[in-house]
Amino acid sequence: MMRPFKRSRNDCRRMIPMWVSLGSKQCSRASRLPWKGLASRGEPGLQSVALEARTLLKTYHVTTFGCQMNEHDSERMKGMLESLGYEEAQGRADADLILFNTCSIRESADNRFVAHLGEAKRLKSEDPERVVGVGGCWAQSVKDEVFERFPFVDVAFGPGQIHMLAEFLTQDSLTAQGYFDFEDFSGHLPAKREREFQGWVQISVGCNCVCAYCIVPQTRGREVSRDPGELLLEIQALAADGVREVTLLGQNVNSYGRDLPKDDRVTFAELLGRVDAIEGIDRIRYTSPHPKDMREDVIRAHAELSALCPHIHLPLQSGSSRMLKAMRRTYNRERYLDRVAQIREHVPDCALTTDIIVGFPGETEEDFAETLEVVEAVGYDGAFTFIFSPRRGTVAADMPNQLSHPVKRERMERLVEVVQRRARERGQRFVGRTVEVLVEGPSRTDPSRLRGRSGHNKTVNFDGTAGQGEIVEVEITSATSTTLAGHEKLLSRVP
Ligand code: 5AD
Ligand code: SF4
Repeated sequence: MMRPFKRSRNDCRRMIPMWVSLGSKQCSRASRLPWKGLASRGEPGLQSVALEARTLLKTYHVTTFGCQMNEHDSERMKGMLESLGYEEAQGRADADLILFNTCSIRESADNRFVAHLGEAKRLKSEDPERVVGVGGCWAQSVKDEVFERFPFVDVAFGPGQIHMLAEFLTQDSLTAQGYFDFEDFSGHLPAKREREFQGWVQISVGCNCVCAYCIVPQTRGREVSRDPGELLLEIQALAADGVREVTLLGQNVNSYGRDLPKDDRVTFAELLGRVDAIEGIDRIRYTSPHPKDMREDVIRAHAELSALCPHIHLPLQSGSSRMLKAMRRTYNRERYLDRVAQIREHVPDCALTTDIIVGFPGETEEDFAETLEVVEAVGYDGAFTFIFSPRRGTVAADMPNQLSHPVKRERMERLVEVVQRRARERGQRFVGRTVEVLVEGPSRTDPSRLRGRSGHNKTVNFDGTAGQGEIVEVEITSATSTTLAGHEKLLSRVP
């Protein structure tokens, strides 16, 4: 059961705005929140939910920090707000409701968020009727401290409590409140997709791993897999709504299914097979898997399922077995490299990307050299590289032998050099080939060209005439460490 943390603040007590009471006064709470009844019947197609009484329009603005999971949570916040009658504002200054969906994975994300919050404070002081909300992992990690540190905040909620934002906005008086409990899946909310042909589906919440550096188990709780039948209905509904590419999301996405009741148990590989069979889904991606759960059946699925993209993100974190043990990653360098060999055996051309942390407590020059060796040996197509950042409440934050910032920075620079060189070298294998590209829009650097993504998850900038959402064949003429360039093969549209 949900037990909201409640906190009253005298300075922000005020009556519910007219727009809410006009539309919902006579309704029961469940029918005020239009997706709730649908969700309990397990019906798909929630995007089309409309609020009967769209009265005076209010506007919202959401700023998102962090990972794809957070971006998807923001899509769900937006969908929920629009079904309550809100419209998206261009900027914060135009918004009645200013929201931040926060990340706490590294200190830099905290700092960026606090800088943005300053503007919200100023806007709120100009118009005290504005509502300021802080959701996501950072809010969850500090809970009620949000209100102590930022007294102008009206509502705060963790990633498992997004739906409570609507409860808050539709209640009869707005008293500052925080909602931080963990539930299974945070409500079946209608998502406002950024691109109509790409959809995210959260297949599990939380994480049972105990990586020493990571705050996620504290912010998103224990792992819970969603019901496979419900997921497939949701993906069928997305396909019917024009989605061609679906990305399955989970904190540890490939341990999906282990917690399901025996009779309903579906492994991650089986789930991939069932999604592949859905008419209209041309591309399947997933993030992020854990190397310990990257079993052979999942690797084989990449070779066998036509819609499953030839790309695996396989977080390494460190190439030193000693560091991996200190990080509590439950695999060592050899096991990781075995996985890579298995992937290359079954899917020789598979793109591999990774996450690497430099400067974990106690990391010696020798440990770091081992990380460089693995990067050199694997030859990743790309990597996210992070400087270790101690997070309050994690085991690593209290470890001795924390490294100085200059040492971490210097190692980072050396790591990035190797990552980029190897990625550039790997990218050359596409030159002269024709790859299928899902068109996302105009190129960011040259709007007369198009931009899209290949199955290998490379950004491709190219000359062509295709429209957004089409899959076209592109002849690749050059490659950098992060992008490919080429031109659309005319008369070759993939239907
Ligand atoms: N410091 C630096 N990087 C971190 N990550 C997670 N926690 C930390 C931390 N405390 C990185 C890991 C993870 C990615 C999402 O963020 O590499 O895979
Ligand atoms: Fe995503 Fe992790 Fe940041 Fe939470 S802490 S938003 S799960 S990256």
